[in-house]
Amino acid sequence: MRIAIIGTGYVGLITGACLAEVGHQVICIDIDEVKIKALRAGKIPIYEPGLDEMVHRNVSVRRLAFSTSVDEGVDISEVIVIAVPTPPHTDGSVDLTYIERVAREIADSLKQYRVIVDKSTVPVKTGEKVADTIRRYNRAGVEFDVVSNPEFLREGSALTDLMEPDRIVIGCNSERALSIMKSVYAPFSAPIMVTDVNSAELIKHAANSFLALKISYINALSAICEASGADIDKVADGIGADKRIGRSFLNAGLGYGGSCFPKDVAAFISISEQIGEPFNLLKEVQRINRFQRVRFVRRLRDALWVLKEKRIAVWGLTFKPDTDDVRNSVALDLINDLIQEGARVAAYDPKGNEKVQKLNLCPGVHLASSALNAVQGAEALVLATEWPDFTSVDFAEVHRQMHTPIVFDGRNLLDPNTMRDLGFQYYSIGRPLSKASRNGPADRIIPIDLGIRSKYTRRKLRDEVAQRSR
Ligand code: UDX
Repeated sequence: MRIAIIGTGYVGLITGACLAEVGHQVICIDIDEVKIKALRAGKIPIYEPGLDEMVHRNVSVRRLAFSTSVDEGVDISEVIVIAVPTPPHTDGSVDLTYIERVAREIADSLKQYRVIVDKSTVPVKTGEKVADTIRRYNRAGVEFDVVSNPEFLREGSALTDLMEPDRIVIGCNSERALSIMKSVYAPFSAPIMVTDVNSAELIKHAANSFLALKISYINALSAICEASGADIDKVADGIGADKRIGRSFLNAGLGYGGSCFPKDVAAFISISEQIGEPFNLLKEVQRINRFQRVRFVRRLRDALWVLKEKRIAVWGLTFKPDTDDVRNSVALDLINDLIQEGARVAAYDPKGNEKVQKLNLCPGVHLASSALNAVQGAEALVLATEWPDFTSVDFAEVHRQMHTPIVFDGRNLLDPNTMRDLGFQYYSIGRPLSKASRNGPADRIIPIDLGIRSKYTRRKLRDEVAQRSR
């Protein structure tokens, strides 16, 4: 099928590449001429594993093209996908001006029946407004249908999420549009859920808000674990083993960030208020998320006493691993909190240094060239993003390089007993302080029933300890 994608940002480009990959003829459109020129020259503006190769592969077989003309896209394509940004206003409500402008542009170019698909994350009832706008501006009265088809991509695994989705949601009020949408998704082997347009729009906000709620739930529990001496990892495993609950999104940490959860939760609160049904539970989700960082800084203060002039290393800048995205990153908020208190912060991230430097997101931070460089002379190390790379750092060397070997693990990435055995004063989220057993044989003090995530670390650190005791 011929498909035009309007908006070649993160969602638009990845959707375009994946639809081309399954055999459709896709044209990705953007008003940003510089971006389109770069894409035509083979330069991919975002980092997403596998995207570069997928775009190049499909461009080379002429299934994927780039343009700045909405007119051209609407003219040649049966399906027009809207994937423009929906940024937040300061009060949390959604700015829909890009969507409205695209609706008018489509109306101007519409000469025969088209399916207009909204993929941007929008408040419920936006589809109705898009349809009204197109109807008003298309003076010729051409037939069209508006469909809501939300995306559920996670940064870092977006290609797999799109190629092998849990479900495809099609919100559609017309049989004609539905049959076209089913052809678009025929090459994907995923269950298709057909709803009305309003329900599909709600599903997106409801799904993201529920995941954010799950994270805040486990983070609130982590505070109770700290106060009671229980272990949040064990509690998460225990409740997550119940299939009705599930273990995913129950990893306690510094809180959620990124370009979606904070924005979507705020938008959902705002929409619920606008339609007269305030969703106050989500305000508590936001409060817990903010407080998790406050609690963590308090923990640092308790251990280090005064933060002013302390040399603190921070590992991690991005909002999560496997991305270079630093938007709404809790790591950056944390660094800025520390700098605000007068600490001297040296930070390192495998992919995020460049953006933080370029956009000056943490004025006063020193960006180190490696994890080991960041800890040189540090009086504390904070682990703010759970990059797997950090588990393979030589911790014996970290210990040597630090002025005082104190580690605050904000993502529960490392094994507490092993860290203590290497001589670190180690703090994490919602896990009891481990008993000091510095000289015991490594195998005896390393529990064997911990999660896969810390296994590699344990093995590596066990070798280190064994070597040291020899
Ligand atoms: C999210 C949704 O998962 C995706 O379906 C939607 O389309 C866009 O928003 P994304 O923002 O890429 O995707 O990241 P995700 O992996 O969901 O993580 C979001 C944040 O939650 C990160 O800051 C992450 O560190 C945090 N998180 C996630 C936790 O703190 N604990 C967890 O258990 C899981």
